[in-house]
Amino acid sequence: MEKVSMDTIVSFCKRRGFAYPGSAIYGGFANSYTYGPYGVELKKNIKDLWWRIFVQERRDIVGIDSDIILHPRTWEASGHVAGFNDQMVDCKKCRARLRADHLVEEQLKIECEGLADVDITKLMKENKIKCPKCGSMEFTDVRKFNLMFQTQMAKTGEEGTAYLRPETAQAMFLEFKNIVDTMRVKLPFGIAQIGRAFRNEITPGNFIFRRLEFEQMEIEYFIEEKDWEKIFIQWQTSMKNWLTLIGLSSAKCHNYEHPKEKLSHYSKRTVDIEYDFPFGRKELYGLAYRTDFDLSQHEKFSGETLRIHDEASGEKILPHVIEPTWGVDRTVLAVLCDGYREEKLEDDTDRVVMQIVPVLAPVKVAVLPLLKKDGLPEKAQEVFNRVTVFGNCEYDESGSIGKRYRRQDEIGTPVCVTVDHDSLTDDSVTIRDRDTMKQERVKIELLVSVLKKKYFV
Ligand code: GAP
Repeated sequence: MEKVSMDTIVSFCKRRGFAYPGSAIYGGFANSYTYGPYGVELKKNIKDLWWRIFVQERRDIVGIDSDIILHPRTWEASGHVAGFNDQMVDCKKCRARLRADHLVEEQLKIECEGLADVDITKLMKENKIKCPKCGSMEFTDVRKFNLMFQTQMAKTGEEGTAYLRPETAQAMFLEFKNIVDTMRVKLPFGIAQIGRAFRNEITPGNFIFRRLEFEQMEIEYFIEEKDWEKIFIQWQTSMKNWLTLIGLSSAKCHNYEHPKEKLSHYSKRTVDIEYDFPFGRKELYGLAYRTDFDLSQHEKFSGETLRIHDEASGEKILPHVIEPTWGVDRTVLAVLCDGYREEKLEDDTDRVVMQIVPVLAPVKVAVLPLLKKDGLPEKAQEVFNRVTVFGNCEYDESGSIGKRYRRQDEIGTPVCVTVDHDSLTDDSVTIRDRDTMKQERVKIELLVSVLKKKYFV
C-alpha cells in the first residue's frame, strides 16, 4: 500500500482503542493523549521486551527506578538549568507561539541544530519567514525558553523550586555510587531505567511523536575512556538488533551522525537512529558518548567523590559513559506506522491488518466460539484459560466469524482460535494466521505448544 498518512494512524488509534485525545470531555488539552486498552498493552510489551533484553538477559546491566523530582542541584550540574533552552517567538498577528529554529529549518531548508542564537535571530529578522498559522511575517524577538517544567515544593523560598525531570538519565549518575557500593559491578557496566520525562515543548505535535510528557528507556553504560570507540560500535549493533526485534523495516531506519561542530555540550560523538515517519525522517533513538562530563559535574556540585578503584592501574578513576536512549512513545508510533496495511482481498473485500511482531501484539490470541450456544462458550472458555499463558488474550463471541477475524487483524492479533461444534467431539480447534489467513486444525492438548513454536518462541 501507499505510505500511510498520520490522519489515518491517528483516527485508527482512536477508533481501535490505542490512543485517545486526552481530556476530551473538557474540549481536549494541548497535546495530551491517553493510551487506550490496546495502546497500553503495546507500550507495556515494548518496555517489558526492552527490560528483558537489556537488563535481565545481560550480566553487565542493572536497573533502577528513581523519583521524577530529583534534588534541584542535579539540573544545575547537568547543564539543564542554564542550557536546556529552545528559541521561541510569537506571531504578532495571531499570537501563535512558535519555535524559531523549526521555522527557519522548514522554510529556509537550513539545519539549525548548532546554529548560534544570533544566526537564528538574524534569519528571523530578514523577513523571509511566514507564520504557518496566519501567514504574517511579524514576530516578536527570539527569546530563550527553558524546557524544564518547574514546580514548587511545600518548602518556601528559592529552595522550594524543583523540576520534573526532562530525562531519566541523571538519576543513573546520582545513584552511580550506590550501585558500585552495593552491586559488586565492574567496568564496563550499565545502569538502566524506564520512566516518564517532561519537557515544556514550544511546539509539541505529530500525535505522540513530540509530547510534553513521555517515557524513555535509557542506559548509562560506564566504561574506561580508552574503550569508548569499541563500545560505541557495540551499542550501535545492539540498537540495530533491537530494531529488528521490534520488526521495523530496515529500509525506514537510518543512522544520522551529528557533525562535530553541532554536538551537544556533553557529547564527543552522537549518532541518532532516525525513522521515516509519515511526516518525514525524524529522530527515533539516540546514542551518545558523554565522556566523563556528568560524573565530573556531579562530583563538583555535590562535593562527593565518584571515582572508583581501577584494578589495572591501581588508581582511582572517573568512568566515561556511553548512553543509548530510546523513546517509548516514538517506538509505539513507529511500530504502528510500520505495521499498518490496507489490503484488497481476493473476494474483493477490504481489510486493515496491523502486522506487528507477536511479542509486541496487544492481544496475543483471540478465542472465538462459532456460536453463543450449544456448549461452545464453555469449551472456548477452557481454551481461553490455556492460551492466557502467552499474555493478554481476548474472548469474542459477538458478530459473524468473518467480522471477528477482521477486528483482530486490525489490532494485530497474530492468531485466532475458533471453537466449533466438532471441537466438542474431536477436542480440536481451528487456528487462523493473521498474515496469511491460512487455517489449520490443532488438538486442544497440543494448542499451547503449537502456538508457542509458531508465534511466541
Ligand atoms: N538522556 C538523553 C536524552 O534525553 P534526547 O535525544 O533528548 O536524549 C531521548 O531524548 C529520546 O527521548 C529521543 O530519542 C526520543 O525518542 C525521546 N523524546 C525526546 N523528546 C521527546 C518528546 N518531546 N516527546 C516524545 N519523545 C521524546
